[in-house]
Amino acid sequence: MTAPLRIALPGAAGRMGRMITTLAAADDRCMIVAASDRPGSPMLGQDIGTMNQLPVSGVVVADDAAALFAAKPDVIIDFTTPAATLSLAAMAASHQVAMVVGTTGLSAEDGKQLSHLASDIPVVWCANTSVGVTLLGRLVEQVAAKLVDDWDIEIVESHHKHKIDAPSGTALALGQAAAKGRNVDLDAVMSLDRTGARQDGDIGFAVMRGGDVAGEHSVIFYGQSERLELTHRATDRVIFGRGALRAASWIAQQKAGLYAMDDVLAD
Ligand SMILES: NC(=O)c1ccc[n+]([C@@H]2O[C@H](COP(=O)([O-])OP(=O)(O)OC[C@H]3O[C@@H](n4cnc5c(N)ncnc54)[C@H](OP(=O)(O)O)[C@@H]3O)[C@@H](O)[C@H]2O)c1
Repeated sequence: MTAPLRIALPGAAGRMGRMITTLAAADDRCMIVAASDRPGSPMLGQDIGTMNQLPVSGVVVADDAAALFAAKPDVIIDFTTPAATLSLAAMAASHQVAMVVGTTGLSAEDGKQLSHLASDIPVVWCANTSVGVTLLGRLVEQVAAKLVDDWDIEIVESHHKHKIDAPSGTALALGQAAAKGRNVDLDAVMSLDRTGARQDGDIGFAVMRGGDVAGEHSVIFYGQSERLELTHRATDRVIFGRGALRAASWIAQQKAGLYAMDDVLAD
């Protein structure tokens, strides 16, 4: 029997942190060996088991990322904030620990830094860890390559009211897939300000926020007298947690480099 995967979990008090704690507790193939949250969080010092209505785990929430690495994890699963992600990635590189980055809202500069750090350690960076959205990205690329002249692409997303970044990292990744299919640079064609007439070739984004929506994304191809819509609806964030654990067990076996969820699912 192989030893369980040792996971360090920053953002343990967050929505995704709690989801991963709950899933990992029910899975013999992995264990959470250390947890942390933002300095000043009211959850510091709490046991991650009792915090999630599970048996006592013996792992308490620390305010110091050093505690994550002291526990000698195989992998860090990060669903926090862009600033925390970059600092954790730098520490992971110096401790030679693999990483799953699920945090969204990273800037282009953050992305460059992450890629640079990934030359020293294996990192999976994915704005959406669900199997369905990963497949949706491939479909969008194929359809965008076929529907070129006279077809307008719009991306619509909805999320719960606590989400900070917009458009979602998933919407941007779907925009990248559409732009790749059309062989154009997304930055040159993305349209966020919708005042004025639409320009040919634009890829437009619309955002809705409210309630407890786990995540809904539609990529709509508007033609003349017809419309093709590709939609993914997440009804529970458990799908992101499962995908993150799958990515974690995969990345722990890889060489240094920056990988995507597509790579995880390809194996
Ligand atoms: N890839 C995917 O499939 C996927 C799925 C869902 C969400 N996400 C993304 O994952 C991120 C987290 O989402 P969420 O819904 O779980 O948000 P959340 O509930 O706000 O959780 C984030 C947690 O990280 C903590 N945190 C902030 N700074 C930290 C630091 N320096 N060290 C350790 N912990 C720190 C936060 O603490 P405080 O609340 O005290 O500040 C919070 O507990 C977002 O970027 C979201 O868009 C990605």
